[in-house]
Amino acid sequence: MEFHRNELNPLEQNLISRLSQGSMKGRLQQVALPYRELMAFYRCAMMTVETKFNVLNEELSLQYDRNPIEAIKTRLKSPESILNKLTARQVPLTVESIEEHLNDVAGVRVICSYPSDIYMLAEAFLKQDDVTLIKRKDYIANPKENGYRSLHLIVQIPIFLHDQKRLMKVEVQFRTISMDWWASLEHKIRYKKDVIISPEIEKELKECAEMGDALDRRMEAVQKQVDHTVS
Ligand code: GTP
Ligand code: MG
Repeated sequence: MEFHRNELNPLEQNLISRLSQGSMKGRLQQVALPYRELMAFYRCAMMTVETKFNVLNEELSLQYDRNPIEAIKTRLKSPESILNKLTARQVPLTVESIEEHLNDVAGVRVICSYPSDIYMLAEAFLKQDDVTLIKRKDYIANPKENGYRSLHLIVQIPIFLHDQKRLMKVEVQFRTISMDWWASLEHKIRYKKDVIISPEIEKELKECAEMGDALDRRMEAVQKQVDHTVS
């Protein structure tokens, strides 16, 4: 989740050295600079998307007298994950290939107060004339078999550089606090080393997700009631 601008972290160094294995300085420069540049473009794209949501949050908070966004998190896919995904997809390990084959190098997670805020924000975001929808997956209307809920959008947005405009892909995940809580813990449990998830645990996790869903609905109903009383 954290990154330092313009600095190569150990994983980036590792990626660059693996991409340029067996070759010399010229090759390193051929790969390292374009890779750093591409990652900088993805960071710019995440900033642009984050700003768009901050603007919507600011404006909508005036209209609704509450903030529909609880938090926004951004993450740049790690060089190791990029390498693993390219390898798994059996596509070339080149900088061009990252842009062509991966949709989730830049990730923005928008944590919302209530489920209806998710759709309101997604709609307001997609209506903007510089946002192009590439793919939409609604795991709230259609939760995954394990119970996972979120709304996923893959979008393309322009970033404006000093001498060019570049279209970048960003994955945006919308979740409520309870969806995010469940997904974070489920992810930690699932990826725990040497742990086999039994059918009982699968069932338990799914039930917890359903409880989260019920909680979201109840909280939303309370909020609507209160809103109704006030106005
Ligand atoms: P990948 O990014 O390659 O997985 O592509 P995909 O087309 O399968 O993407 P999908 O939209 O289903 O999921 C993308 C992201 O959503 C993942 O990288 C996770 O961040 C999140 N996600 C999807 N399913 C789950 C899940 O079952 N549990 C958790 N915790 N997160 C999930
Ligand atoms: Mg992914």
